[in-house]
Amino acid sequence: MINLPACAAWPKDKTVIAPSILSADQLVLGEQIKQAQQGGADWLHIDIMDGHFVPNLSFGPATVKAIDGFTALAQDVHLMVEKPADFIAPFIKAGASSLTLHIESKGDIKQLLKGIKAQGLSCGISIKPDTKPCDIAPYIDLIDLILVMSVYPGFGGQAFLPSSLKQISDIRDMIKAGGRAIWLEVDGGINKDTAAKAVEAGADALVAGNAVFGQSDIKEAIAQIRQAAEIK
Ligand code: DX5
Ligand code: ZN
Repeated sequence: MINLPACAAWPKDKTVIAPSILSADQLVLGEQIKQAQQGGADWLHIDIMDGHFVPNLSFGPATVKAIDGFTALAQDVHLMVEKPADFIAPFIKAGASSLTLHIESKGDIKQLLKGIKAQGLSCGISIKPDTKPCDIAPYIDLIDLILVMSVYPGFGGQAFLPSSLKQISDIRDMIKAGGRAIWLEVDGGINKDTAAKAVEAGADALVAGNAVFGQSDIKEAIAQIRQAAEIK
């Protein structure tokens, strides 16, 4: 398992770029991951879908395990599942670096977050576009990362929802008020145009699926997002 870097220790002027393998060519996944790593990706984003929480299926622990032995990139695992309690142990065993749960999913979220931390992983909370940022408040002392969904979860290649900019800036204010460094990651519709807006609103980590793996030159695609996401 590779640890997710601590937000407090990360260079303040560098936005994290986390390509999402949902949009990668699954027939040559290893080759695509290698290109992303060589192209300067900071983490890999792994979307886990159960067909209930979202109307789609994606990867399981076997994929995370295979990637863990293959790359030096941290695996930022996003659990879009109805019952995260059923999946935490298998993904920890597989080598996930961080596990992010949806606030809208079922179970005792606080206990689940504590359980993830106890195993030495980073943990995060994600909100869907219609969830209020203030709902995160009860978890803020437990988490390393907040993931704002800037599309309705389930599919890659959707358009960035402009309404998420207000969520991002509200959450940035919450983090500042809390006084502890927490990653603020944005996921959905990130490309070279929307990256700058998300960073300006307060994001310090960006997930990009289609804008990286949907492009013919992965290295160039990452470079373009990185340039757009330069923190001023
Ligand atoms: C969507 C997933 C995203 C997805 C983003 O439900 O959570 O991580 O891969 O894909 P793009 O960047 O194409 O919107
Ligand atoms: Zn995701």
